[in-house]
Amino acid sequence: MSKINLTVNKKNYSVDVDPDTPLLWVLRDTLGLTGTKYGCGEGICGSCTVHVDGNAERSCILSVKNVEGSEITTIEGLAENPDHPIFKTWIDLEVSQCGYCQPGQIMTLAAMLNKNASKSEIENEMSSVLCRCGTYHRIRKAVDKLVE
Ligand code: FES
Repeated sequence: MSKINLTVNKKNYSVDVDPDTPLLWVLRDTLGLTGTKYGCGEGICGSCTVHVDGNAERSCILSVKNVEGSEITTIEGLAENPDHPIFKTWIDLEVSQCGYCQPGQIMTLAAMLNKNASKSEIENEMSSVLCRCGTYHRIRKAVDKLVE
């Protein structure tokens, strides 16, 4: 165990954990931020996506020691602005089905929008975030609405 200093959603934390623990489990189990989801644990599905210094990263394969000093944002941080255009669009178009993968979808999209990525760059990035309900067509409509 080691003390690791983290900044998550603009709040500072000092956590006592194994430094090799994936960030996902520190967020969920230590900090109680359960909006970030566990899907595969192998960096494949994208359910665990958070922002690290503004970049979309898969927190299940990121050791917590490697994000000390970085700005981490989770879906809870994004939701501090309930008027965020992504949330409004998601609700308007009823994108979610079971909802499990949606934090990962939304965090991936938010990082791309923050970088003014093109629609094709967004679609390319989001094609690797998996949804077992198959909401892809509604996600694509939401992206179309947000990137007109
Ligand atoms: Fe991290 Fe699937 S749980 S990519």
